[in-house]
Amino acid sequence: MSEARLPRRAFLATGLSAALPLKASAAPTAPAGKPLTVLHLTDIHIRPEHDAPKRCTAILRDILKRHPEIGLVVNTGDSIYAADYGNITRERMLEQWKVWDDTVMTALKRLPIVHAIGNHDPWWAGPKDDEMHGIPYVCKRLGIEQPYSSSRQGAWEVITLENCRGSLGDEQQKWLFEKIAALPEKTPVLLASHLPLFSLAGDYDGGNMSGAKAVIDKLAARKAPVLALSGHIHIQSSESLWNIKFHCNGALSGSWWEPGDAGDGSYKRTPAGYALLRLWPDGRSECVYLPVPA
Ligand SMILES: [Fe+2]
Ligand SMILES: [Fe+2]
Repeated sequence: MSEARLPRRAFLATGLSAALPLKASAAPTAPAGKPLTVLHLTDIHIRPEHDAPKRCTAILRDILKRHPEIGLVVNTGDSIYAADYGNITRERMLEQWKVWDDTVMTALKRLPIVHAIGNHDPWWAGPKDDEMHGIPYVCKRLGIEQPYSSSRQGAWEVITLENCRGSLGDEQQKWLFEKIAALPEKTPVLLASHLPLFSLAGDYDGGNMSGAKAVIDKLAARKAPVLALSGHIHIQSSESLWNIKFHCNGALSGSWWEPGDAGDGSYKRTPAGYALLRLWPDGRSECVYLPVPA
């Protein structure tokens, strides 16, 4: 994989024109209008151990200082370390959400933020009728009304999906297809989900969303640019197919805030990091993956 040859301080970038349908003879032109700068964070996996709260606070502070132009944050889930295992107590789950509030949400409080839910976020060990059981409580802690939603951010439609259990399910897919069908023909779409719709990272290690082909076909039929953002794999890969750019970005936590096999916090040759996106009103886009500040 190309990441294996990249030095620690290097970054991964994708071309400006890649989100638009390609014309072989077209000369590159400068993007029109002011771009919206988006900070993509994923797999923060915040936890009390390994000095993660202090390190995470410092990292987020440095990111915001480095990039004062950020106008929107997209969090694609696995916000907390892990609440999903059968042995997780209520106290342990609540401890992690408290650290989330005290670190991540405190650091990002001045910015608009959209969230997708990760597979490690919901607590399943408690009774089914417990208000802290499952997806609704994660929505409550993230401050979102629904596990999937859509909002207009400048010229772009930003859609968050809930695929943390492996697929969308019939009801959500119906909602998504109706949403896509109702969009103006040229509206570019940013689609954010925890599991990748498609990624080489997911093929290599951990898996992509089931049933994504139908979604991809629906998006490709519109021809307007689409950016599909995701995490979950902790490995960065970018691909393009027709009008769709797929960016599965690496984890802010790298190896879950632990040193990992390489001893530097990276996971399988992808450093702990974040992505910076620029979205131009005409649908052009750029995505750069950067290692966390040292
Ligand atoms: Fe994760
Ligand atoms: Fe995950």
